[in-house]
Amino acid sequence: MRNPKVAVVGSANVDLVLRTERMPIKGETLIGDAFDIFTGGKGFNQAAAAARLGADVTLIAKIGDDPFADILRSVIDSENINTEFVKTDADAGTGVAAIVVEPDGENSIIVVPGANMRLTPADIDVAQNSIAEADVLLLQLETPINTSEHAIEIAKANETIVILDPAPARSLPANLLSQVDILKPNEVEAGVLSGRAVSTPEDGVAAAKALQSQIASDGLSAVVLTLGQQGVLTYTQTQNTHLPAIAVDVVDTTGAGDAFSGALATALAEDKPLIEAVIFANAAGAAAVTTLGATPSMPKREKIEEILTHK
Ligand code: RIB
Repeated sequence: MRNPKVAVVGSANVDLVLRTERMPIKGETLIGDAFDIFTGGKGFNQAAAAARLGADVTLIAKIGDDPFADILRSVIDSENINTEFVKTDADAGTGVAAIVVEPDGENSIIVVPGANMRLTPADIDVAQNSIAEADVLLLQLETPINTSEHAIEIAKANETIVILDPAPARSLPANLLSQVDILKPNEVEAGVLSGRAVSTPEDGVAAAKALQSQIASDGLSAVVLTLGQQGVLTYTQTQNTHLPAIAVDVVDTTGAGDAFSGALATALAEDKPLIEAVIFANAAGAAAVTTLGATPSMPKREKIEEILTHK
C-alpha cells in the first residue's frame, strides 16, 4: 500500500518564545521566566505533523537568507519532508513569530511574515506535480492569498482534497472559499469568516452552517470547527457532530491547531472516513498541548493512540 501524500503550501517561521506569569500592560517592563527558540510557522508545523504521522509530505514555502533561515533549514531537513520547493529569497527576512506563553499554556503571537509573503504563484507552478499527485492539499493564511488560490486551482483540477486552516483570522474572497473541501477554523476564525461571534457550541453550529454553505459542495464539504475546551464540531451537508475536548495536562497550546490540521490531512489522505479523521485530529491537538514549542509538539502516532486509548 502506498503512503498517503500531503502537499502543504504555507509558512515557515522561527518562533521566539517567552514564558511569563502574565502579559505586560502598556508601558510596563516585565521580567519573564524563560526564553526559547523553536521552529514554527503554521505551514511547517502542519507539514511536520503529517510527516511524523507517516505521510509523504511536500512543503512549498519560502524563507530568507539569514541566521534564522539556517535554524529552520536544519530542522526542516531533519524531518521526513520533501524540501525541494522550500525556496530561499535573499531579499527578505525569514518569517519570525514572537510568542508569549502564560502559565495556563495559553499563547499570544505576533508574526512578521517576511519571506513567507514572497511565495508566488510561480513557486506553485514549479511544484504543481506534487499538488496534483497529492491526496490532500493543506493551506493556511500566512502566505499570499493569490498563491493559495493558484495552488487550490491545481488541486481541484486533479481531485486533490483541499483543506484550508484559515489562520490567522481574516475575511476571504468568496471564490476561494467556494473551492475548499474542508474548512477548519477555530472559534475566532469562524467568527471573522461568518460575521457572527462564536463562544458556545450553539454559536459554533450556526457559524459552521453558514460557512458550510459557502465552501465547495461537490466533495467532502465539511466545516470542522475547533472550540478549545468546548471540543470540535463537524458540520457537513448531512451531519452535525460534536466531539468533546480531551482532557490533558496543558503546557503550551501553541501549534495545537497545526497538529490537528496535519493529522486531519493525513487521516483523510489515508482514506479514513471524515469523523474517524476528526477523532484522530482531536487527539493530535490534545497531544500537542502537552509539549512546549510549536514544531517540537507535533505528535507521533504512538502518542495519539495512547491518548485515544486512555481518554
Ligand atoms: O500555529 C502556531 C504558529 O503560528 C507558530 O509556530 C508561529 O510561527 C505562527 O505561525
